[in-house]
Amino acid sequence: MEERALLSVTVEDRVAVLRIANPPVNALSAALRAALRDAVAQAVADQGIQAIVLAASGRTFVAGADISEFGKPPISPSLPDVLVAMDECPKPLVAAISGAALGGGLELALGCDARVASSGVKLGLPEVKLGILPGAGGTQRLPRLIGAAAALEMAASGEPVTAETALSLGIVDEVVAGDPLPAALRRARALAEGGQRPQRLRDGRERLGPRDAFEAAAAKVLRRAPDNPAVASIVESVRSAYDLPFDEAMSQTRAMFLRLVQDDRSKALRHVFFAERAAQQPAGLSREVRGRAVSHVAVIGAGTMGGGIAMSFANAGIPVTLIEAEPEALERGLQRIAQNYATSVQRGSLAAEERDRRLARIGGGVGLENAAGADLVVEAVFEDLALKQKLFAQLDGIARPGAVLATNTSYLDVDAIAGATRRPDDVLGMHFFSPANVMKLLEVVRGAGTSPETLATAVELGRRLGKVPVVVGVCHGFVGNRMLARRTAQAERLLLEGALPEQVDAALVAFGFRMGPFAMADLAGLDIGWRIRKATGKTAPVADALCEAGRLGQKTGKGYYDYGGGGRQGVPDPAVRDLIEATSARLGIARRAIGQEEVTERLILPMIDEGARILEEGIAARPGDVDVVWLHGYNWPAWRGGPMYHGSRLGPAYVAQRLEAYAGQSGDPSLHPSAALRRLAREGRDFDALSGTAR
Ligand code: 3HC
Ligand code: NAI
Repeated sequence: MEERALLSVTVEDRVAVLRIANPPVNALSAALRAALRDAVAQAVADQGIQAIVLAASGRTFVAGADISEFGKPPISPSLPDVLVAMDECPKPLVAAISGAALGGGLELALGCDARVASSGVKLGLPEVKLGILPGAGGTQRLPRLIGAAAALEMAASGEPVTAETALSLGIVDEVVAGDPLPAALRRARALAEGGQRPQRLRDGRERLGPRDAFEAAAAKVLRRAPDNPAVASIVESVRSAYDLPFDEAMSQTRAMFLRLVQDDRSKALRHVFFAERAAQQPAGLSREVRGRAVSHVAVIGAGTMGGGIAMSFANAGIPVTLIEAEPEALERGLQRIAQNYATSVQRGSLAAEERDRRLARIGGGVGLENAAGADLVVEAVFEDLALKQKLFAQLDGIARPGAVLATNTSYLDVDAIAGATRRPDDVLGMHFFSPANVMKLLEVVRGAGTSPETLATAVELGRRLGKVPVVVGVCHGFVGNRMLARRTAQAERLLLEGALPEQVDAALVAFGFRMGPFAMADLAGLDIGWRIRKATGKTAPVADALCEAGRLGQKTGKGYYDYGGGGRQGVPDPAVRDLIEATSARLGIARRAIGQEEVTERLILPMIDEGARILEEGIAARPGDVDVVWLHGYNWPAWRGGPMYHGSRLGPAYVAQRLEAYAGQSGDPSLHPSAALRRLAREGRDFDALSGTAR
């Protein structure tokens, strides 16, 4: 019964059409693999069948192996076994690729003698993004089809290509508009008329290409992703296409595949894959709820964020009106946008015509009345509650009924802003990250009164913008910035207790971040935090002293580092060391040598503790949601899965015990583990036990 549901076989004029139907994405589950193997065997045995076409129903061709089976005991037949059955089949096989053919899906198609694809569909080997290598012959058959260097680039980058590019590379033989089945049937019949099956891909090395071109490509990809263990294995496997017989290369590849699946980094990357997808389905929002249609957007405030947000909409094809209070500010904002696009064109990453189309979607207006026709308004004015409340009260009288009203506030109370209107159900936070046209994270802040339709509108829109929307609740700093504040506080404390900026930054880079907190602060400008601290009556002795000395970061040539020549690479500055030591002395803090392990743990563990509190309060629904925030908003290294995943690997008991020890050693009371974390530690439970406990 089940096999028939997963795979149907029909015969069209002596060609067997094997049609895969395993929603949602036709992943190659154990049952589907068995059904495929059996169907091929039956077609071989049936004298009336001359050829086989492999087709699929649904939105993809085949999205690859079933990732949820990884890490569990392997079930026979494996995908390589299915490919062996296809190789041994004496009758020609043709793939009719009607949707994405990814990973094992492309490998299946490479086991055929010809491939016909629908225009625009994606083909690729994304395994590397899961920390594994193509395990079913992608690293052997693709090099034999398009050359080792080009195949290596596809497997090592994991980036898919469109059917049109695949045609020019030689991966597919034909691209058609719409259903590829008729063309695939024609090809199958033509091949069958030849009397025998053409040379199988596994048997020919003629197209591998020159070895030195492959080695040059190998050196390049190895440099690009030093933390991903799969890249070296992919290189080794493709190289073996030159050196080893096919079967030997395959068994070596299979062994590497099974080893990588067990690697902690691959496990973390798989967690990321599922966490990203789970985050798309906000807790407490039924799948049936649809967002409202959005065809025109207004963005209020044409500063750093407003400009980037407007670009995000324009880039996604959505017309937008940028609104300022004064014509000069509007002009400045529009010019900055034009300049940003011009830079992309100069760099060659954007075609001039596309720039023109995007710019044409961005209009400007002075005064809030310009928001009257918008389906969605995003406010991005100064971070000032009274100002935002006044503006939302005015907007209430201007925006059309049913328009979604969003604030981009970083820290402020979204409910207090919604309360300034008579339509709090239409209000929520859409917290973009800087630069808004680049960063993928969108924290969608659900207020107490936000309606399900309003929430769904923001989530759907986030996806349309190519962002990763994560629904969060109202609190100071939401998920990302609230956790960041704990890290920032410890970074400052570590300086006072004995560390230097370069040591703190090096620890985080060793952990896997691209940049440490101080290099990052220099890049963003130290004055932002200074202004906020002054407004809220807080202090950070070292950071304040640097600002008072006029060291505001890269823009003034000096910050935590010295940027002497005006470049972006700072060097440690003895004057900063003196300033830090003097500050410690002034505060009566005895400096001591601090090792890298302590630096790393004091930066990372408090974030995990804050994450536990965030989960307990229901500000984030799932540990994976917190991870996605940090992966896409703060460049948390993907192979470490995210802060809560990392905390879960360490274990809540370990995190709590280390924090307690550091609290005692440093005398910093903020390091004591929270009640939520202590409870998990006591009960021996993991972070998902906190999900929804407050609701
Ligand atoms: N295995 C198991 N589940 C999968 C899956 C896979 N390969 N691919 C997608 N899914 C699930 C998702 O988890 C999601 O489940 P949910 O609805 O319960 O959240 C559902 O299918 C739909 O997925 P998306 O939300 O991602 O759907 P989209 O339409 O946005 O994207 C896609 C479709 C482009 C195919 C995307 O799902 C994707 O990139 N999938 C993974 C592709 C991949 O990495 N393949 C390689 C697998 S490894 C392999 O093949 C090894 C081989 O070499 C032996
Ligand atoms: P900004 O100072 O660069 O821009 C604010 C803009 O709002 C200015 O151009 C100003 O002229 C305009 N403005 C002020 N009052 C106005 C009014 N009444 N009508 C129309 N325009 C008005 O500030 P930035 O950095 O863009 O921040 C904007 C908001 O985004 C703030 O709430 C901030 O907290 C938030 N945010 C900032 C991030 C960042 O990294 N800068 C990241 C995420 C959110």
